[in-house]
Amino acid sequence: MSHMSAQKKILVTGGAGFIGSHVVRLFVQKYPAYHIYNLDKLTYAGNLENLKDVESASNYTFLKGDITDHGYIDGIFKAHGFDAVIHLAAESHVDRSIENPMEFVTTNVLGTAVLLNAVREHWKGQTEGKLFYHVSTDEVYGSLSDDGFFTETTPYDPRSPYSASKASSDHLVRAYNHTFHIPALVSNCSNNYGSHQFPEKLIPLMINNIVHNKPLPIYGKGENVRDWLWVNDHARAIDVIFHKGKSGDTYNIGGFNEWKNIDIVTLLCKVMDQKLGRPEGTSAELVTFVKDRAGHDFRYAIDANKLKTELGWEPSITFEKGLEATVDWYLSNQEWVASITSGAYQQYYQQQYEGR
Ligand code: NAD
Ligand code: TYD
Repeated sequence: MSHMSAQKKILVTGGAGFIGSHVVRLFVQKYPAYHIYNLDKLTYAGNLENLKDVESASNYTFLKGDITDHGYIDGIFKAHGFDAVIHLAAESHVDRSIENPMEFVTTNVLGTAVLLNAVREHWKGQTEGKLFYHVSTDEVYGSLSDDGFFTETTPYDPRSPYSASKASSDHLVRAYNHTFHIPALVSNCSNNYGSHQFPEKLIPLMINNIVHNKPLPIYGKGENVRDWLWVNDHARAIDVIFHKGKSGDTYNIGGFNEWKNIDIVTLLCKVMDQKLGRPEGTSAELVTFVKDRAGHDFRYAIDANKLKTELGWEPSITFEKGLEATVDWYLSNQEWVASITSGAYQQYYQQQYEGR
């Protein structure tokens, strides 16, 4: 990307979601010479409230549309002539992929193919200043036992419909890069946490339930391990890789920060007892072990040393600090939580947890 002109038109897909909104905010504020087009279908997971602070910026445009709609995608490429794509739009929740795999195949696989075809057609072999940046997950590598780490060369071994659909989209991006010489790269990141995350994922779900004195549903024994990264640090990594990454390459992004689920929930209970002025130990009484997730991956752990040594990125804050900032954000934004957890989410929650 070093040869790209200073003025760029960048299409960000899924910019109204959790990670996408952090990426859009960072790019709109940091790069006034770029124009950021945020394309989002606004599914249950997309929320323009996430971008209130940048919505009137002169270098930002929202486009409501579906990445699987070939005619629509073709039209916006014709109208705006994007130089680059940062592709985040996806169905992203493993439990939902177990309930409804086809939505994941449609959005994640077909949607990515539609975007790649648009880029192929509209860039017409041009490579100068062009880049298709595909944002993916470490879950494509499968599940680890107690030892070892995922590196960029770990063979793919996806085990949930979500990770299989993401793996499939990664393969398509690499195939288009190889076959059609489309400048493209992939980054695979570990679990993110931070502000604006939909409370169906572990950390915001537990924060929300602690606030409302609801049971804290831990799948299985709570011994599964995830590597957690503050979402702002993921957005910083995407910025660095977008500008300095090599086309055709893969970059793993991780927090060097592994936690068992039960330990995270215990820490959250402690932090929240303090914040809410509850006697220590009160929230931990809400912990409830429930039926395990089908096919539950045991451990994910990323070796992010390539990104650190080649491009100089590393996480900016400790997990304890990031978690506290996250708790503070949710406590000060209860209206945001209330509005997105009304309606359809209530129904999902009942279906997912009742009688579990
Ligand atoms: P999210 O579910 O919060 O947001 C997804 C966004 O995509 C939403 O705004 C939604 O409206 C939009 N979208 C969904 N289907 C669409 C379609 N057909 N057309 C246009 N827009 C559509 O997801 P997230 O957690 O922010 O994840 C973003 C990306 O990062 C995903 O590709 C995910 O696989 C990847 N990722 C997530 C994590 C994580 O921990 N959350 C970790 C690594 C990688
Ligand atoms: P999640 O946030 O869904 O991310 P992923 O499955 O993509 O890693 O879940 C993180 C971990 O927390 C995972 O091991 C499943 C577990 N979990 C629970 O124990 N209870 C819950 O209610 C949820 C949503 C997740």
